[in-house]
Amino acid sequence: MENTGKFQIEAMDLENAGNVSSFIKKTLINKGIAKNIIKRVSIAVYEAEINVVIHSYGGWCTYMIDDDKIRVVFEDTGPGIEDIEQAIQPGFSTANTQAIYYGFGAGMGLMNIKNASDTFNLTSSPKGTILDIVINFN
Ligand SMILES: Nc1ncnc2c1ncn2[C@@H]1O[C@H](COP(=O)(O)OP(=O)(O)O)[C@@H](O)[C@H]1O
Ligand SMILES: [Mg+2]
Repeated sequence: MENTGKFQIEAMDLENAGNVSSFIKKTLINKGIAKNIIKRVSIAVYEAEINVVIHSYGGWCTYMIDDDKIRVVFEDTGPGIEDIEQAIQPGFSTANTQAIYYGFGAGMGLMNIKNASDTFNLTSSPKGTILDIVINFN
């Protein structure tokens, strides 16, 4: 089982949205990581993956697992988040009608990612957004 990997995430590819988080979840199950930890990782990684799909021009997810934690970094190529504080507020969303049709856009994603993570770093410019999260295994 690999301890690191990198995946491309395509903009508005709703058919494959969720594949990265499923893969990481399976990897952690195979490693015997505790269920409550896997649940937090799954929530955070799923929400972050969906955000790259529905809000960005596309990007990548890199994960790194070691003995006591997982770090997951999402980077995309824009258009960025104008006001990060506002974006994290529960209920704030700029999701388009197609994303809403597919059930996304509740505006809870970033707050849920932040709450599920032990370390949460979000930086953004018009050139892209970087979300860097760590979840400890104990
Ligand atoms: N990768 C991203 N690129 C650009 N904007 C983003 C990205 N991730 C989040 N956002 C912005 O932050 C807002 C809040 O995100 P989130 O809390 O996940 O809610 P939702 O995805 O339901 O809109 C989004 O509506 C969007 O405006
Ligand atoms: Mg979201």
